[in-house]
Amino acid sequence: MLEKIRQTAQFISSQVAELPKTGIILGTGLGQLVDHIRIIKEIPYNEIPNMPVSTVEGHSGKLIFGYLGERYVVAMQGRFHYYEGYDMKQVTFPVRVMKALGVDTLFVSNAAGGMNKEFRVGDIMIITDHINLFPENPLRGKNYNELGPRFPAMTEPYSRELIALADEIAREKGIRVMHGVYVGTPGPTFETPAEYEYFRVIGGDAVGMSTVPEVIVAKHADMRVFGVSVITDLGGKDITEVPSHEEVQKAAIQAQPFMTEIMKELVARI
Ligand code: HPA
Repeated sequence: MLEKIRQTAQFISSQVAELPKTGIILGTGLGQLVDHIRIIKEIPYNEIPNMPVSTVEGHSGKLIFGYLGERYVVAMQGRFHYYEGYDMKQVTFPVRVMKALGVDTLFVSNAAGGMNKEFRVGDIMIITDHINLFPENPLRGKNYNELGPRFPAMTEPYSRELIALADEIAREKGIRVMHGVYVGTPGPTFETPAEYEYFRVIGGDAVGMSTVPEVIVAKHADMRVFGVSVITDLGGKDITEVPSHEEVQKAAIQAQPFMTEIMKELVARI
């Protein structure tokens, strides 16, 4: 694994003149952020050695290097989901590579279903903590001390400092933001009413099918993490609306300008 990471990082380094300290995984709700990046270099995933091969034809995704405001960043356009069939090492490989390139702060976004009764569709939830319900931990197996400790602490998975900064930005801009615990599940099914209730009972505010693997690896690698969810649907035993991919996309598009605004400003101020 070390050799693969080194090889991939070396290839990417050879493609760009400068290496970033800030990484962004452009999940649902943040796609538009790309329009604010002054692009220096794009590298399609299928040209990058060791990168997982996309399951969606014609949508391989790409790494984007460029300036978001004054800040030089690398952004992942397209991520690898566990439900697509990738294993946890493949899902998190790009985070390893980012770290090897020198990235020390990771921004992530996703779409999630809300269980917290105060949430509304289109809300932005700053992730304060998560619960890992994936069937596997990405760190299972041999530990490489070069990458991080065998038993990493997860006491502050999401940077309190960045959360406070995002709150300040949201206040200044008059954007409603919620705080909450993200429950990471393998998917691809949305939850049954009883599952949404169960996730609420165990302390979750929203549930989704990504992010947790990447954040675990980022923390293993001692990175600072900030995450946001866009609440695209609501779940619980009293909720009868049927969530669909289309509905998720629609709600995400609605919240997108606000997500973009917060992220842009946050990246500028770190
Ligand atoms: N459950 C799981 N993942 C999701 C949901 C949901 O309700 N909404 C968006 N992603």
